[in-house]
Amino acid sequence: MEDRKLSVLIAGCGRVSEKHAKAIKTLSKQYMLAGACDVNENAAKAMITNCGKAGTDAKIYRDWKKAVDELKPDVVAITLPSGMHYEVATYAMEKGANLLLEKPMAMSEDEARAIYDTSKKTSRKIAMGHIYRYLPVVGIIRDDIAKGVYGKVTHGSIYVRWGHGDDYYDSAAWRGTWKADGGALMNQTIHAIDLLVWLMGTEPVEAQAMIAQRLRHIEAEDLGYAILRMEDGSLAHIEGTTATSPKEHSAEFSVFCENGQITMGLVSGKAHISIKDASGKKKNFHYLLEQTKQGGLSSFKTALNPHLGIYKDLYDCIISDKEPVASAYDGYSSVDTLMGIYKAALTGKAVELPLKEGFSSLDMKDYFN
Ligand SMILES: NC(=O)c1ccc[n+]([C@@H]2O[C@H](COP(=O)([O-])OP(=O)(O)OC[C@H]3O[C@@H](n4cnc5c(N)ncnc54)[C@H](O)[C@@H]3O)[C@@H](O)[C@H]2O)c1
Repeated sequence: MEDRKLSVLIAGCGRVSEKHAKAIKTLSKQYMLAGACDVNENAAKAMITNCGKAGTDAKIYRDWKKAVDELKPDVVAITLPSGMHYEVATYAMEKGANLLLEKPMAMSEDEARAIYDTSKKTSRKIAMGHIYRYLPVVGIIRDDIAKGVYGKVTHGSIYVRWGHGDDYYDSAAWRGTWKADGGALMNQTIHAIDLLVWLMGTEPVEAQAMIAQRLRHIEAEDLGYAILRMEDGSLAHIEGTTATSPKEHSAEFSVFCENGQITMGLVSGKAHISIKDASGKKKNFHYLLEQTKQGGLSSFKTALNPHLGIYKDLYDCIISDKEPVASAYDGYSSVDTLMGIYKAALTGKAVELPLKEGFSSLDMKDYFN
């Protein structure tokens, strides 16, 4: 396909769509906003304004199906509540659109598999909103781990302490429900799980888990722990919670290897990174130089808005027929892992992954009753 501007329909003009608008505004040579759809027309209007020049010709819609049918966009960015992802994603791909699909891909194993299968059947690309893969340096570290620079991976660990008060959950009826959102693991922690699995370069084969409700008045969990056994024998440990102070968001990933260890994190908006070889020598500078060499200084902009990286990647993948860094398979696989974690919490037993039979977050609906 020759280089040309791709048209985008943003379906859902709420909280996360602001990141999409910023990316589209910056990439106005690659993208034009064809439409903004939301049941709240003011939100759709704001989206168009926020896209700047790229939004000049955009139309407003309340009905996403009508918008897809009329605009026939190259890309539908699905930023609707998670419980709507399956219906919109499959419909839009059948109508010829590629997707920027927010995480989680869907609310059940069956739906995620159906989205993945539809993408293969229709040859449409899906770039998942797994933002952490698009942070600077991360991809280069991942390649080095895969090349064996740090030797055998022994284990990995993440915590996501993304405090949200009841005001956050009360801001939209779908938040914290089993049907349309899930809890802290499914919403706030899924892209961190995706990153950990990707960095470790292997796939989960078994999950064990516990979940709890500590502070928030929601249907699903506000705290969860899981342990994954990976195909190569390594283990991964996961903590995800929203029951911490909303004033302090922190997340950290560590991968431990035979010949080094990598830790990256964000505490109250401040990034920290520590990459050490077997002798304990820090290699941070090496990776910063490598990122500059491979992507130029402008590639560090994704630290402020990873969605910029996702939109750039999706453009290249559509034009050059490649798979996005966070692909349809990755979206499916992370939902499969999450469903395994929920099933393990529900049954109190270790669960084999990938799941042998479907599991939905709605299967958890009586867990805390
Ligand atoms: N990748 C990330 O960093 C990230 C961050 C936050 C949220 N998300 C994901 O993005 C999605 C949206 O999250 P959010 O926090 O922006 O939610 P939100 O509630 O702020 O926004 C959703 C929007 O969809 C609109 N909407 C709801 N039903 C609709 C319908 N039937 N037709 C048209 N519009 C409708 C609402 O009016 C709202 O404006 C979720 O799947 C969430 O998990 C991803």
